[in-house]
Amino acid sequence: MSYQQKFSVWRGDSDGGDFVEYDVEVNEGEVVLDVVHRLQATEAPDLAVRWNCKAGKCGSCSAEINGRPRLMCMTRMSTLPQDTTVSITPMRTFPVIRDLVTDVSFNYEKAREVRAFVPPADLAPGEYRMQQVDVERSQEFRKCIECFLCQNTCHVVRDHEENKLAFSGPRFLMRVAELDMHPLDAAEDQEGLNRKAAAQDEHGLGYCNITKCCTEVCPEHIKITDNALIPLKERVVDLKFDPMFIRRRKRKSK
Ligand code: SF4
Ligand code: F3S
Ligand code: FES
Repeated sequence: MSYQQKFSVWRGDSDGGDFVEYDVEVNEGEVVLDVVHRLQATEAPDLAVRWNCKAGKCGSCSAEINGRPRLMCMTRMSTLPQDTTVSITPMRTFPVIRDLVTDVSFNYEKAREVRAFVPPADLAPGEYRMQQVDVERSQEFRKCIECFLCQNTCHVVRDHEENKLAFSGPRFLMRVAELDMHPLDAAEDQEGLNRKAAAQDEHGLGYCNITKCCTEVCPEHIKITDNALIPLKERVVDLKFDPMFIRRRKRKSK
């Protein structure tokens, strides 16, 4: 079954833009990205859109559909009302390059600020052993496809550009949480890096007031807030009362 659907697509670039109305054919089983491709093939050959896999795995086709941050390739047209215009806009938190394509380099900068896993000095590659429970704990976070929908949605940066400097966002705080939970990470012993203190001081964990909007939009259904951010916050509080940590910090500041 086919039908005609009205779309309002944001067109423009870094200098500004506006919504352009289109009337497009939709066929049974299609997703929003199919319609965007039909638009490119018919009325709007110069419409810019980023995508790769069309299977919800590359994280490229993030946009806002009817104001909701979604993957275009995983949003079925049958879930959207047919009697009203469907709006498609680029992610709001990142600067627009053109049309639906945004510059997400903020996220790569934040990724680089998270210091890498430090393997124990006395273990050779292949000798690492971990309990299954520890493997499973971080496996959930490893499902991340880096679509940056959580980064786009979190109000700490969505509504406050000025916070981008101090706040790494849910995706990268989750990475810090994962490293902090890692039983073989020797960053503290070898480099004096306390991951909990870094989460608070370098990555802005304190800005997160656990609204859980990041979790709501995650297409991989990762429980970012409950399983990464809240446990990390709890461990940061523990740290405040850890006499060893307090002593080490005092010694450092002398
Ligand atoms: Fe996307 Fe979820 Fe990864 Fe955030 S945590 S970047 S929403 S997959
Ligand atoms: Fe933002 Fe998620 Fe915290 S939306 S405020 S990082 S719970
Ligand atoms: Fe890869 Fe949508 S095209 S996630």
